[in-house]
Amino acid sequence: MNHPAPTPTITWPTEGLTRVPNRLYSDADTYTQEQARIFQGPTWNFVGLEAEIPNPGDFKTSFVGDTPVIVVHDRDGGVNVLENRCAHRGALVCLKEHGNARSLACVYHAWNYSLKGDLIGVAFERGVKGEGGMPRDFDKSKHGLRKLRVETLNGLIFATFSPETPPLADYLGPDILERVRRVTQKPLVVLGHSRQVMHNNWKLYVENVKDSYHASLLHAFFATFKLNRLTMEGGIVVDASGGHHVSWSKGAQDVETKTEYEAGDIRSNVEDLTLQDTNLIAGRDEFGDGVTLQILSIFPNFIMQQIRNALAVRQVLPKGPGKTELVWTYYGFADDDAALQQMRQRQSNLAGPAGYISMEDGCVGGFVQRGIAGAADERSVVQMGGEGAETQTTRATETSVRGFWKAYRPLMGL
Ligand code: FES
Ligand SMILES: [Fe+2]
Repeated sequence: MNHPAPTPTITWPTEGLTRVPNRLYSDADTYTQEQARIFQGPTWNFVGLEAEIPNPGDFKTSFVGDTPVIVVHDRDGGVNVLENRCAHRGALVCLKEHGNARSLACVYHAWNYSLKGDLIGVAFERGVKGEGGMPRDFDKSKHGLRKLRVETLNGLIFATFSPETPPLADYLGPDILERVRRVTQKPLVVLGHSRQVMHNNWKLYVENVKDSYHASLLHAFFATFKLNRLTMEGGIVVDASGGHHVSWSKGAQDVETKTEYEAGDIRSNVEDLTLQDTNLIAGRDEFGDGVTLQILSIFPNFIMQQIRNALAVRQVLPKGPGKTELVWTYYGFADDDAALQQMRQRQSNLAGPAGYISMEDGCVGGFVQRGIAGAADERSVVQMGGEGAETQTTRATETSVRGFWKAYRPLMGL
């Protein structure tokens, strides 16, 4: 008689953070555990910008992990994050990506919720002509939408399911907090959105963002036009938990001050390539510190980007072990002049689903997912720049990738 193989359990390699088990990217049980232990565990999850819901009644739908949520601006000026699951039979309450509503009504049997998530109306609660209806002792106050804890930071909205998550400022730590504030120091305006589906596990994209080693190698555009080279002044900041990081660099050239760009003298090392229209990368040192690139990640799945003047936030949404949706929101500041806003929009062509720089990132995770299809028991090697997960002054390192696993392992009990 044949017995099915027991479900393999994952044991972390004895080498520590420098080895990552491939099974973590394809295993259905791991995926389920991540939803419970990480996304519904003690983590802060970005769900949107206050600028996306500026008026009372404005709402947007989003996700914490793969759990659908509603982010809503209520009549008292508060921001609530509610699970988008009707307390009656579990249907999605909000079906739209965004809108404005007086209350939140479920389409299935018309149960109605306030903007704070309280159940305020049950259709036919007293029945029809004295028959049917809910029992007299049915208590509406016990059947609201599940409410998440919410904190906002300079216009960013974060939510958590867990009462144990520390306050957001403590969760981020001072180094990360300072750099979040750097790119959100004025009221924000939304410039646009884009979405893309990637055929890889969500962690492969998060690791890709933290992987400064690949940037000038995979992305030909970066190196060709001298936007990001590992020889530039820069570094990697990793917080004490390991889970958050910032990669930053100062551009060697700035088109506003270096005339060789205007002279058309932008050439690759390997090919005689010239950028005909330098407007694409024309930038302004708007933060006054010369930093032309700041990529920041917050555990588990939130990214903030400053590429020159192109500012954006990205949510990495898990959609099953082998599928991920990436949601980009491009933003600027309310007091941007017309020239700066145009710069941001033009430079936004550098990143995004078809970005000159970032389009390779949309497929390289899929290359890994396909490459490891027959090697669940093997592990990858993450050893550039040492074995730990500390802040470093070089970007020829995988320190922040190891940091991700440093934060991941205790939450997952691995
Ligand atoms: S499932 Fe929402 S009212 Fe029935
Ligand atoms: Fe990349």
